[in-house]
Amino acid sequence: MAGYGRFITLEGGEGAGKSTLIAGLSEAIKARGHEVITTREPGGTVLAEHVRALALTPPESEHWSPLAHALLMNTAREDHLQKKIRPALEAGQWVICDRFADSTRAYQSIDGVAPDVLLAIERAVLAGTVPDLTLILDADPRALAARRTARGTQDVFENKQLAFHEQVRAAFLEIAEQEPDRCVVIDALQSPAQVLKETLKAIDTRVVSE
Ligand SMILES: Nc1ncnc2c1ncn2[C@@H]1O[C@H](COP(=O)(O)OP(=O)(O)O)[C@@H](O)[C@H]1O
Ligand SMILES: [Mg+2]
Repeated sequence: MAGYGRFITLEGGEGAGKSTLIAGLSEAIKARGHEVITTREPGGTVLAEHVRALALTPPESEHWSPLAHALLMNTAREDHLQKKIRPALEAGQWVICDRFADSTRAYQSIDGVAPDVLLAIERAVLAGTVPDLTLILDADPRALAARRTARGTQDVFENKQLAFHEQVRAAFLEIAEQEPDRCVVIDALQSPAQVLKETLKAIDTRVVSE
């Protein structure tokens, strides 16, 4: 029987480069001879994708309370862990997940859900399936906005949006500070090649691959 796989999660604000990294990273890990699956949250299974749609795009003029939203994220996560992530790890595959529990900690705490409540729900849902490594793609939101503007893909933030993105950044950095063994902060303003290089270095030094 194959050994247990490795579980790697990517976190960071919108546009930080998670999807870009996941593509290069999965190729690099495959090239090292491992089986890899990539997935995302919320989502990743049929039911979790339905929950994603319900959570992120509720019917017009309806909205979820912050706690209800946090519970939905965890409902999706429970299905994802049970049906996709754990079976893959048990089959010896590496699992790379675009956003995971840290996004719920970050965004739902900003929404006003108490951090101890979020942690208690997270612990029950993860039931020990904690990522081996979490890559936090970090950048000043102003610089990310400038990057988008330079590419002509998006306008600059309004001040209110900027304040929100700064809260998201601070929340991820706080998680990295609280769990330095699991989390690595990567400067997202570097080139994609450099981001991938630092990621592989973190895998080499922190994730046992045999
Ligand atoms: N390191 C980088 N340097 C410059 N541009 C990047 C970098 N990483 C991603 N991008 C570009 O920035 C945009 C957002 O990247 P993406 O990977 O989709 O971010 P996310 O998945 O975190 O929202 C894309 O247009 C992508 O091509
Ligand atoms: Mg993405």
